[in-house]
Amino acid sequence: MDRIDKLLSSTGRWSRREVKDLVRQGRVLLDGRAVLRPEEKADPDQAVLTVDGAAVDCSPFVYVMLHKPAGLLSATGDKRQPTVVDLLPPELKKRGLFPVGRLDKDTTGLLLLTDNGPLAHDLLSPKKHVDKVYLAQVEGRVEVEDIRALAEGMVLGDGTVCLPAGLEPIGEGSSCLVTLREGKYHQVKRMLAARGKPVTALHRLSMGPLALDEGLKPGEWRFLTPQERANLLRLGDAT
Ligand code: URA
Repeated sequence: MDRIDKLLSSTGRWSRREVKDLVRQGRVLLDGRAVLRPEEKADPDQAVLTVDGAAVDCSPFVYVMLHKPAGLLSATGDKRQPTVVDLLPPELKKRGLFPVGRLDKDTTGLLLLTDNGPLAHDLLSPKKHVDKVYLAQVEGRVEVEDIRALAEGMVLGDGTVCLPAGLEPIGEGSSCLVTLREGKYHQVKRMLAARGKPVTALHRLSMGPLALDEGLKPGEWRFLTPQERANLLRLGDAT
């Protein structure tokens, strides 16, 4: 927790004196309510601080939402193949951002990149119950028995134990939504292949409260909004 006058002045936009005046004039809000004293404290990563209604980013970490295109590795670097980090500008590459969990090379959709290691750990831990939702196209059609099998938790041919997962057919069942709380190697593809429904295309739609921004085209990225960031961090704190 840091003092609000320190947080706002550390952005370089206002002096401590100016922050005091902004607070006195009721122009600074913390999570939607007026800050009464500049010495009030806030968590720079979780708080949504606004000045005159505009959000001010005081976070010590960087959070990027990327629409991963097919054909790139979810890694920070590779000698031979392009990675998702190659889509970022040099100043962000220098910050050492890494992808939170891996998507296969041919999987598209939501990928979060950050330099906040503990948060990444929390989002991936099955104990934290962070749902990851995928849109899958399959050969054949998803049936009630498939829904039941995933809901019970599957054991794959090599002995891999999968936690119960959600399966929701869309339309005739050649597409479906799969909801996982974990991220084992090729998990969606292996579970559906084991049900005799090989995946022909896979796209991640969301991770906990964070949904892929439909305005981002494959290969495009943007910073998380303060609200998106606060939602994710609260979730890391839960449990
Ligand atoms: N499951 C898979 O099989 N592949 C991914 O990329 C993500 C989840």
